[in-house]
Amino acid sequence: MATGMLHTHYLMVVLFTLIYLIKTILLLSDRDELLEKFKKKTKIAEMVVSFGFLATGIFLMTQLPAINMYHIIKISLVFLSIPLAVVGFKNKNKVLASFSFFLIVASFSLAYKAKEAKAGKKSMAMTGKELFEEKCSLCHGNDGKLGLSGAKDLSLTALNHEGIVGIITNGKNAMTSYKSTLSVEQIEAVSSYIETDLKGK
Ligand code: HEC
Repeated sequence: MATGMLHTHYLMVVLFTLIYLIKTILLLSDRDELLEKFKKKTKIAEMVVSFGFLATGIFLMTQLPAINMYHIIKISLVFLSIPLAVVGFKNKNKVLASFSFFLIVASFSLAYKAKEAKAGKKSMAMTGKELFEEKCSLCHGNDGKLGLSGAKDLSLTALNHEGIVGIITNGKNAMTSYKSTLSVEQIEAVSSYIETDLKGK
């Protein structure tokens, strides 16, 4: 449902921007007659697209788990650009119209940034549990008790935090070193996971 909505939103955004871009170009190049014709021809399409663009955007907003700074700036830019565009095109004010177009484009790059920030958070969140299950459960098992190829039962480990970090970082016997495959933060995360969720369980 949400992905279908997202695709509809993207489509609306593209159409909206395209209409907007053509209008801005016509205004900037003093093709007033053509601009009027284009405006008339696309009037209904523009209404539908603008409505679809805002409606899908608002719906998607309500689906967000958390609204971050990028979302707020993005929405503010979109809402700021609309009156600017209306006034700009009405008065044939090139500066206002171009500025409004610029705001729309800027809001897209923010949308992209917001997505990136989300993706970054997700990979940071791939900490502890997920890392353990991906890299370590092969020998230790999801519960730490598997003991394959001589792996120690992690629920029984007597090691403290430094000891666990040390073994993961440097390896021991059949267990390889994770120095080059995991970052210091990831080793910290997976160690904390062992201590809080596996040790003594
Ligand atoms: C190839 C199998 C294998 C994989 C994969 C593996 N280990 Fe181990 N692990 C071992 C073996 C074998 C030992 C026992 C080493 C020894 O003391 O001889 C061990 C020991 C440990 C210990 C020390 C336990 C103790 O009480 O002495 C910790 C902590 C540990 N592993 C964590 C991890 C973590 C975290 C990962 C994933 C990042 C991981 N291991 C991946 C095989 C593995």
